[in-house]
Amino acid sequence: EKGNYRHYMQKEIFEQPTVVAQTLRSYIRQSDNSVALPQIDFDLSAIKRITIVACGTSYYAGMVAKYWIEQFARVPVDIDVASEFRYRNPVLENGGLALFISQSGETADTLAALRHCKQAGQTIAVVVNVPTSSMAREADLLLPTHAGPEIGVASTKAFTCQLAVLAALAARLAVTKGQMDRTEEQDVVRHLLEAPAALNAALDHDDDIAAIAPLIAPARDVLYLGRGPDYPLAMEGALKLKEISYIHAEGYASGEMKHGPIALIDEAVPVIVLAPSGPLFEKTVSNMEEVRARGGQIVLISDREGLAEAGDGCLATIEMPKVHPLIAPLVYAVPVQLLAYHTACVKGTDVDQPRNLAKSVTVE
Ligand code: F6R
Repeated sequence: EKGNYRHYMQKEIFEQPTVVAQTLRSYIRQSDNSVALPQIDFDLSAIKRITIVACGTSYYAGMVAKYWIEQFARVPVDIDVASEFRYRNPVLENGGLALFISQSGETADTLAALRHCKQAGQTIAVVVNVPTSSMAREADLLLPTHAGPEIGVASTKAFTCQLAVLAALAARLAVTKGQMDRTEEQDVVRHLLEAPAALNAALDHDDDIAAIAPLIAPARDVLYLGRGPDYPLAMEGALKLKEISYIHAEGYASGEMKHGPIALIDEAVPVIVLAPSGPLFEKTVSNMEEVRARGGQIVLISDREGLAEAGDGCLATIEMPKVHPLIAPLVYAVPVQLLAYHTACVKGTDVDQPRNLAKSVTVE
């Protein structure tokens, strides 16, 4: 079943262009390049506030969605991990949409949070990969990802498919709210449809990333930095590395570095910087300088433009295709997944069945 791949995780990373395209197909109407959601029997335009709840990688997809929903639809978004959300007595006003994101649809804390929100009168939307799951059954609005079965314990293709669905949701919401006109909607669709090819272009750098893994494998700690929608990607990268290579890693907002974690920096702590060129790039470059001034070893992940400007003096660089900012979080998922994967292979850990982890966490 793994075909030519050594591990399910590797196979699933490489399936991303196909499954993201597959997922997008069910959210895009090709005839007029508009975003379409499944049949909804409530008024999306009346939604005043969105509460996103999820765990782990699905939570990071939710963090990216917060940027998109607030930017496009101007609807305020609250987000929390399910285990915290449940016990903090959240304020849930009438007219709110509660959005749950889950690969399995069975994560105990997320499911309990869903039931809590239902009781509190929220409309329930669910982005889920297993269409027969408990969460799918209990949703008012079911937004399936079409990633296919995910076998590797570390989530990969489910994440990029979640992002594809969430981008479509953000755009649809923006249209119904009158915040996005037809031309803008068509632009969003066009950029989303560029994602599968961009994911392929990112996967083309597999060998370069494999060559960097031996530099990361000896580290005891690794820092990941990103800004804006790439900040959650930094956390996702750190989570992937922790899970399968057992190296301690932290994802930080680039601008938070100087408020603490910079104290950790020395030659032994690789710093992985996710920074597509664009308006935030200069800011991140200055954060990189702060790291470099303290002897930090940087792995810069950027496009050709970004690498030309700031690639000199890095321990290593990973080139990504130049993409529209909307799809950058999908594309930049690939190098962080591959870096974790190859580092785990160098260390010889069990990639598909990491110690202490289960695919679906059905206990609280
Ligand atoms: C990370 C990972 C976990 C899951 C989390 C939520 O690679 O697999 O962090 O993302 O347990 O699981 P789902 O999405 O099934 O609710």
